[in-house]
Amino acid sequence: MRPSALLKTAEPLAAPLSEFARDVRAGLLTAGQKRLPEKYLYDELGSVLFDAITLVPEYGLTRADERLLAAHAGAIARKLPKWLLIVELGCGSGRKTSSLLRALCGSKQVRYFPVDVSPAALALCERQLAGLCEVHPVRGTFLEGIDAALGRRTAGERALVLFLGGTIGNFDRHEARRFLGAVRSRLRAGDALLLGADLVKSIETLLLAYDDPAGVTAAFNLNLLARINRELGGDFDLRRFRHVARYDERHRRIEMHLLATAAQRVSIPGAGCTVHLRRGETIWTESSYKYTEIELFELSRSSGFEVVNCWTDREWPFANSLWRAARRSRAAEPSV
Ligand code: SAH
Ligand code: AVI
Repeated sequence: MRPSALLKTAEPLAAPLSEFARDVRAGLLTAGQKRLPEKYLYDELGSVLFDAITLVPEYGLTRADERLLAAHAGAIARKLPKWLLIVELGCGSGRKTSSLLRALCGSKQVRYFPVDVSPAALALCERQLAGLCEVHPVRGTFLEGIDAALGRRTAGERALVLFLGGTIGNFDRHEARRFLGAVRSRLRAGDALLLGADLVKSIETLLLAYDDPAGVTAAFNLNLLARINRELGGDFDLRRFRHVARYDERHRRIEMHLLATAAQRVSIPGAGCTVHLRRGETIWTESSYKYTEIELFELSRSSGFEVVNCWTDREWPFANSLWRAARRSRAAEPSV
């Protein structure tokens, strides 16, 4: 018997599985590196923990994005037309978007469609921004959300897609290009995208940001196992896992893992499986790729956009780039 066959047990299934259960099963019943998609980090508690991360002194990313939006909201507004349908992908609590929306709503006719997989985040965002303009929350994944919002575009409205906070970094580089190509293919020439991307910086700074001494990021990561226990009846013992942040220099990415501190067997009835972990084995839960400005410029061209302007924060290297959908898409029609 191959050693891997000892390490995984799939059980017969009584009923069709939810998407979450299927992804958990596929990600954990593998002979190779175990993985869980990062979108599952954001249940109700996960969204609150992410908001707590944005307040952690070592995680400068959100504050950099906020500074840029506050400082350049007026300049961004001047580059955009009067009738705007704004779609924000992965809006989270929407706190950071308020300064930009305020500037845009002052001089334009705005309809705002926040998109998020997390109902808790979406509800917070709606509460935060409802006073500023018409808000139409969309619960769903990024492309589902963009389709739903753009399906309601009225004649004369230009689209502005917001993809803030460095969430593009949670795609690998190849997926990021395909994803942005998919966004482009849904837009009309002249529509715009405001993209936030975290820039490369010292490894020490990054490791502290993703493994903060107060343990907030660790709680965010471990909550994924707790979510599996809550929603799929799993019996993960969180005390037998440790949050690990690693930097992969070759790929310029932070990786978050959950490391098993002892060999163990975990039963997940809702996913119809029992998972075996070796001591020291990890479950890879998120990647966060770091960009250079040149790379962002190349990314815009290869996904069918032109850069209008790029603003960077010097305190915490981070870029907000305003792109315009180019007249003819250079991107292949994607299947993301
Ligand atoms: N834009 C906010 C929040 C970033 S956290 C900020 O900059 O602070 C990432 C957000 O994206 C979370 O609210 C999460 O629920 C959402 N998200 C993650 N993956 C998603 C997906 N595939 N589709 C839609 N929303 C997603
Ligand atoms: C949402 N995303 C950009 C965050 C990041 O930095 O990759 C998620 C996060 N993971 C750990 N800390 C914050």
